[in-house]
Amino acid sequence: MLPLYRATAFNGIIDKGGRTKPWSILVDTGKGYRPFVVKVFSAKMVHESDSVTNEVLGYALAKQFDLPMPEAALIEMNMDFQLKIGDGQAQMALDDADKRLKFGTELIEGNYLFDPSLKSWQAAKMIETDTLFAFDNLIRNADRGSVRPNLLVKSKSAYLIDHEQAFQLDNNTIGEFEAGRWEDKFGRHHIFRNYLANARKAIKNEFFNSFEEYLRRMNVVGLNIYFQQLMREGYSAERHETIRVWLNHCKQNSTNFVALLKKLIT
Ligand SMILES: Nc1ncnc2c1ncn2[C@@H]1O[C@H](COP(=O)(O)OP(=O)(O)O)[C@@H](O)[C@H]1O
Ligand SMILES: [Mg+2]
Repeated sequence: MLPLYRATAFNGIIDKGGRTKPWSILVDTGKGYRPFVVKVFSAKMVHESDSVTNEVLGYALAKQFDLPMPEAALIEMNMDFQLKIGDGQAQMALDDADKRLKFGTELIEGNYLFDPSLKSWQAAKMIETDTLFAFDNLIRNADRGSVRPNLLVKSKSAYLIDHEQAFQLDNNTIGEFEAGRWEDKFGRHHIFRNYLANARKAIKNEFFNSFEEYLRRMNVVGLNIYFQQLMREGYSAERHETIRVWLNHCKQNSTNFVALLKKLIT
């Protein structure tokens, strides 16, 4: 489960063209202060997209697939903190915000956004491009395209952020997958799709080998501590079963899942 940290100081709104304009803050971890970036979702967004659940599960699964992410936590913004904000725009956002605990990640200082014009070999030095492509298809995340890569680069490593739009699933998803129908927003429009599609045959043959191993070993039961934490914090459990069923299906049909991925890069 995620640690719970208390917001202690507001450092500003990050205005870099994302959907939600997260805040840069300082949190008290109980063992010192650390800079964090916290997502201040509106009540409407959480209600309609279950954004916090998506962020938490995206983080938990990224860890299982050894994909690098800044450390995540749930963040409490108590009245003391709210009174100290002193920024009109932030105060307005807070009025509209969902009142429950927020999702935050440790600030990666001095990062830059992944540049989609980089060559595939440059990207491959920063992150396992085939595993990330596969992961985003598994969690059905449409938010890793060239317009919004949601990959932050620092010291030649790329870190995943922003899974609020992931887990776009319903009761038809398994049927769609079995029928080989797959939406372009997850597959063909992914930032690494063309890198993988244009690779040499010998390299291409090796793609998704390690992903398949991770998928076979994925610990769906291990997500229960996160599901329980979300329920304790008052977040809806309505989608939990659909998500569990989907992940288990992919795990049990890992060969077919990889076959779909291979088709998406031909
Ligand atoms: N942990 C972090 N460290 C540094 N910058 C971050 C971090 N998380 C988010 N950001 C910055 O905030 C921007 C928006 O964050 P993101 O989670 O993508 O929210 P949105 O839902 O608005 O797209 C990112 O593009 C990045 O510039
Ligand atoms: Mg984003």
